[in-house]
Amino acid sequence: MEYIDLRSDTVTKPTSEMHEAMAEAEVGDDVYGDDPTVNRLQEIAAEMMGKEDALFVPSGTMGNLLALLVHCQRGDEVIVGNQSHIYLNEAGGMSALGGMQAYPIQNQPDGTLALEDVRASIRSEDVHHPITRLVCLENTQNICGGVPLTLAYTRQVAELAHQNNLLLHIDGARIFNAAVAQNVSVKDLVGPADSVMFCLSKGLVAPIGSLLVGTRKFIARARHLRKMLGGGMRQVGVIAAAGIISLERMVNRLGDDHIRAKKLADGLRQVKGLVVDKDSPYTNMVYLNLADDVTINTKQVSEEIRKLGLLVDAENARRFRLVTHYWIDDTAVERTISAFGEALN
Ligand SMILES: Cc1ncc(COP(=O)(O)O)c(C=O)c1O
Repeated sequence: MEYIDLRSDTVTKPTSEMHEAMAEAEVGDDVYGDDPTVNRLQEIAAEMMGKEDALFVPSGTMGNLLALLVHCQRGDEVIVGNQSHIYLNEAGGMSALGGMQAYPIQNQPDGTLALEDVRASIRSEDVHHPITRLVCLENTQNICGGVPLTLAYTRQVAELAHQNNLLLHIDGARIFNAAVAQNVSVKDLVGPADSVMFCLSKGLVAPIGSLLVGTRKFIARARHLRKMLGGGMRQVGVIAAAGIISLERMVNRLGDDHIRAKKLADGLRQVKGLVVDKDSPYTNMVYLNLADDVTINTKQVSEEIRKLGLLVDAENARRFRLVTHYWIDDTAVERTISAFGEALN
């Protein structure tokens, strides 16, 4: 059975155009720098992001970890949002593998870290203190609703960081969603950051892969550490070929996912028993809760919905996250709204 899968944009399977490009990709040993398709992907990525260089990595998690490992020494401290993927969902890699410690500060409902909180968390120079080295932002901020952070805000954080000898890394797993939603160029949006990781394997539909971008020196060190982590891949142009299609064809269509997320949210607002978050969606994620008077939990609702051919992600016993993507069309949106209606009434 082919499910309508709203659990995440990571579930996107490659298009037939991607399959063809992957089958025909020109390849070489990328550890030697010999894979022309990877080299091309990296050139396109660096150019789009306005950074000197780029590195193809197997996952967003590895891209973020490499950024942290390059920017920080063991014992350094990293300012992160307490709702950020780096802090919550990357298996503690920064401390396990990098010997760093996180300084989590509260994400505001709009996904930002309050500037005064960032300022207050920067350690003073003291032999007792760890050295604060890096601030990480997440754009779009997933748990806060897929909310995009603005260029003005990013500039403010970068300015604060740089004034205090810190660097700014952006976990831009969905940075293109953020740029498209705000109608700004991605290059401008990440301009203030020292490094950015972004994913091809989410809304951009590629089956695998992320990119890390920054200065030439930063990327050279990241390439070395990628090898150390076992992420040096060989004829990986077979995957990079799909990534090139992501960057050339899948960026501008992200607006369609945002429009469908809005239709989905509007429809679900009419379903008795559901309370869609007030401002949801900002991009391609719809967050909603079961109303207080609903006696069943999200697991039970998900099971009912699964019987109707849909897969949805329960955040907890009362909360759902639904994500639109390339394979969710208007019919899928309508079926989702009616499936929730059927499951709850
Ligand atoms: C905001 C954010 N950052 C990083 C990642 C990590 O990406 P990956 O699953 O490729 O490791 C994800 C994955 O869902 C994410 O949502």
